[in-house]
Amino acid sequence: MSALPAASQRWDAADYAAHAGFVPALGQDVAALLAPLAGERILDLGCGDGVLSVRLAATGAHVVGIDASPELVAAARARGLDARVGDGHALATDGGFDAVFSNAALHWMRQPEAVVRGVRRALRDGGRFVAEMGGHGNVAAITTALRAALRLHGQAAPAFAWYFPSADEYARLLERNGFQVDCMALLPRPTPLPTGIDGWLRTFAAPWLAGVAPQHHADVLATTAELLAPALRDSDGRWSADYMRLRFRAIAA
Ligand code: BEZ
Repeated sequence: MSALPAASQRWDAADYAAHAGFVPALGQDVAALLAPLAGERILDLGCGDGVLSVRLAATGAHVVGIDASPELVAAARARGLDARVGDGHALATDGGFDAVFSNAALHWMRQPEAVVRGVRRALRDGGRFVAEMGGHGNVAAITTALRAALRLHGQAAPAFAWYFPSADEYARLLERNGFQVDCMALLPRPTPLPTGIDGWLRTFAAPWLAGVAPQHHADVLATTAELLAPALRDSDGRWSADYMRLRFRAIAA
């Protein structure tokens, strides 16, 4: 699924589908960990364009999607999903959900304590929080190359754009906010990029360019791609991204 974008990033639903359609497609494992049941009320946090939420709903669960992007929420609604624009740091639901699900969205939410508290409030006692997100080391080559390219072009780099916790860090966060961790794993998952690194950077790198004048963006991104080619492009010219997934299931105690 997708993400809650930084204020500097706006999503275009068609662009997102073209460059990041693999995100929901690779969400099957975390969806299987959720194992939604008919009749359950499930909150999909960072539902994006709703592709994966609709698959969850096909089991007979009632799925409510929330995403910070009005463009992606509109795309999710067009799929028939009950989707709302909202901030994952300030979930306004209380206790009515059997499960909160999230795929590839939590790393966009930079105040994780507020997010996890809101998720706990949204769940009934015994409800489950099942999610996958970027974990420690995620897109390390890409962020290192972005940082180097910004410096080579005399531009300042932000401290960091995303939140990629280790398994231990996220387990502690869950436990001090009323969850019992059932399973948690940090998994390397090199991810083929259907539209190459250019498509990925165009879709996701906006937070790194927030302080850069628009006329320099293309040069910074071209240098980033050049630096990454030896690591992320194979001899047939196919690109992949160095993803590390943090996947977990936790129970509201
Ligand atoms: C991810 O899914 O890991 C991710 C996507 C976009 C930006 C950063 C990370």
